[in-house]
Amino acid sequence: MSATLNRGWRYAVPPQKMKINSRKLIQAAAKARAGSVSPYSRFKVGAALLAKSGEIIAGANVESASYGLTCCAERVALFKALTGGKKNFVAVAVVARAPGGPMPCGACRQLLAEYAPDARIWVADSRNLKKTRTFSVRELLPRAFVIVP
Ligand code: THU
Repeated sequence: MSATLNRGWRYAVPPQKMKINSRKLIQAAAKARAGSVSPYSRFKVGAALLAKSGEIIAGANVESASYGLTCCAERVALFKALTGGKKNFVAVAVVARAPGGPMPCGACRQLLAEYAPDARIWVADSRNLKKTRTFSVRELLPRAFVIVP
């Protein structure tokens, strides 16, 4: 997923030029979903982020007995990626048993707007991974809150 220029340097392809293999990313999210720790809602969600480097980082939702402490799959994947030094995300896939695929919650939209503003979002129903919907982060959270120093 990167272009080699004649000087021998490897340059990452700009997000808009990078071909996103959404099927592969959705498969990664579906696989990550198996790791969901959701004893309270039993709603399993998997998410996978595609970094500009081509690397895929995935995660699943983790619930708490103190319900509000639950962390969504998107944020688990994002925190895993960010704390692993990854940045510049070009796409994110989210998979759950939901007709048309699960829509990211408001908290996840905020985090995506901050750390993956240019990422293409793909959602898919775990029962039919071929049926997808896609959105931009800006479309899901227009006029996001950001601190401009
Ligand atoms: N959940 C996610 O993982 N992602 C979302 O975008 C929405 C909700 C999780 C949180 C909780 O574990 C379960 O789904 C039910 O809300």
